[in-house]
Amino acid sequence: MIGVVFPDGYRLANLQKSHPRKRFDCGQEQVNHWLRTQALQHQEKRLSVTRVLLDSQNRIAGFYTLATGQVDFSDLPAELAKPLPRRALPVAVLVWLGVDQAYQGQKLGERLLAQALRDCYLAGQTFAFIAVILDCVDDRAKAFYEKWNFSTLPGHPYKLFLNSQTLATMIASG
Ligand SMILES: CC(C)(COP(=O)(O)OP(=O)(O)OC[C@H]1O[C@@H](n2cnc3c(N)ncnc32)[C@H](O)[C@@H]1OP(=O)(O)O)[C@@H](O)C(=O)NCCC(=O)NCCS
Repeated sequence: MIGVVFPDGYRLANLQKSHPRKRFDCGQEQVNHWLRTQALQHQEKRLSVTRVLLDSQNRIAGFYTLATGQVDFSDLPAELAKPLPRRALPVAVLVWLGVDQAYQGQKLGERLLAQALRDCYLAGQTFAFIAVILDCVDDRAKAFYEKWNFSTLPGHPYKLFLNSQTLATMIASG
């Protein structure tokens, strides 16, 4: 499986203290706050991993954060829950994803999401989970993810999931 190709001059790296994260501005305060003040601490505590997309000047064009989590059986749609045990179930969590406003509209967000889903798929070969889940900030963000086969969890309009079988099919079809 090949990784996502980013435009020339961009490279992905795991977040480091030297990266200029305080300047990052994607236009969503919650997402900015996460990258500027929390992502590195959570990474150091092994709670999540953040990958940043750096431009040729080492500025952060975008990022995503992945973690593991659990979802309760009762929160899943019936068709997904049916064959599963009635308990808390393992999921991959796309904690946040953002592209700095200066870089938006160049398909970097889509490529970051594609890379995040590839990371989830690869991790799922050794640590199983039933779905990728995420919380979205607003309806525009929701529309962004719905284009990628994410669906709403019943009763949670801003919590989306992508089941692992659909993920595998998406990866297999490139
Ligand atoms: C959502 C976001 C990551 C998109 O990044 P981007 O690099 O501008 O997006 P792309 O260029 O890859 O565009 C992908 C699609 O998303 C749509 N899009 C662009 N900005 C968007 C936004 N703010 N919210 C939702 N969708 C958006 C585009 O219309 C495009 O669809 P199209 O190809 O049909 O025109 C970026 O706007 C962002 O960081 N927003 C603030 C943080 C946020 O909402 N993150 C999502 C977490 S809930």
